[in-house]
Amino acid sequence: MSAIEDIKDTLKRGKTIDGYDYKAKKRYKEPAPESIDTEEFKKVVESRRSVRKFTSKPIPKEVLEDCLGMAMLAPSSCNLQPWEFHVVQTPNNKQKLVEACMNQNAAKTAAELIVVVARTQNWSKIAKLNITDWPQPTVPKHWVSFYKNGVPLTYWQGPFDALGRVKKSIANVAGLFRPIPRGPFSQADMKVWAVKSVALAAENLMLAFRSHGYDTCPMEGMDERRVRKLLKLPKDAEVVMVIGAGERAEDGVYFPRVQFDKNNFIHYA
Ligand SMILES: Cc1cc2nc3c(=O)[nH]c(=O)nc-3n(C[C@H](O)[C@H](O)[C@H](O)COP(=O)(O)O)c2cc1C
Repeated sequence: MSAIEDIKDTLKRGKTIDGYDYKAKKRYKEPAPESIDTEEFKKVVESRRSVRKFTSKPIPKEVLEDCLGMAMLAPSSCNLQPWEFHVVQTPNNKQKLVEACMNQNAAKTAAELIVVVARTQNWSKIAKLNITDWPQPTVPKHWVSFYKNGVPLTYWQGPFDALGRVKKSIANVAGLFRPIPRGPFSQADMKVWAVKSVALAAENLMLAFRSHGYDTCPMEGMDERRVRKLLKLPKDAEVVMVIGAGERAEDGVYFPRVQFDKNNFIHYA
């Protein structure tokens, strides 16, 4: 199905932007679990603190893998999962990463150091995976069409953002008459686009460690250029943060939590 045919089909069948097909006879159903212990969840969220000093206890491999698995259950824009997790383990690389993290104690004492990376140009590869790795015997037609046509149309900005500029002009005019997405229209927008989803995965990762009894410290206080060089990251990779993880030392949390009046942040409209 071409992009134009897909747009026509969308209009004819009354599909929405979220891919819901009103005409489909058979619907996928996934009930929510019956009960979740909110207090236990709250304990995980509330006890997550940035820990700057860890004990020498290692993190078991199964725990590390379980946490990385939970990180990748985070929501991502169009399920394009623009994240990468580089677990830096060899002593030489670890030493270089600690230096790149300005020798912060959280990096120096961490049992594991994970570089969380956002990729702005990985979307075409992941779009293909969305089709090939569909978990049921038949891939819905609108799903294939979206990942073949809709995704490139949305995320390809062309050389020097030329296509992005055209899309922006069209959106500016069309947007006078109806609601329309206002981006991404440039490589700078793509950076914001990717980092949004990756930051959610980073928080999942930190909460997952906490739920296993381990702690973390997110670090953006690092020399991104050195981290990129160490990991030989491609041009489109953005280092979102380095996460140090391990067992909290008795004096691992340096300060009490500082909270502010919620009215500074919550607005009802
Ligand atoms: C994106 C980001 C970058 C951060 N960078 C550092 C860092 O480089 N070093 C550090 O010690 N803490 C760093 N932090 C931790 C914050 O200082 C900490 O989250 C904040 O003070 C609130 O404390 P809490 O995490 O214990 O609730 C960072 C946090 C975030 C979200």
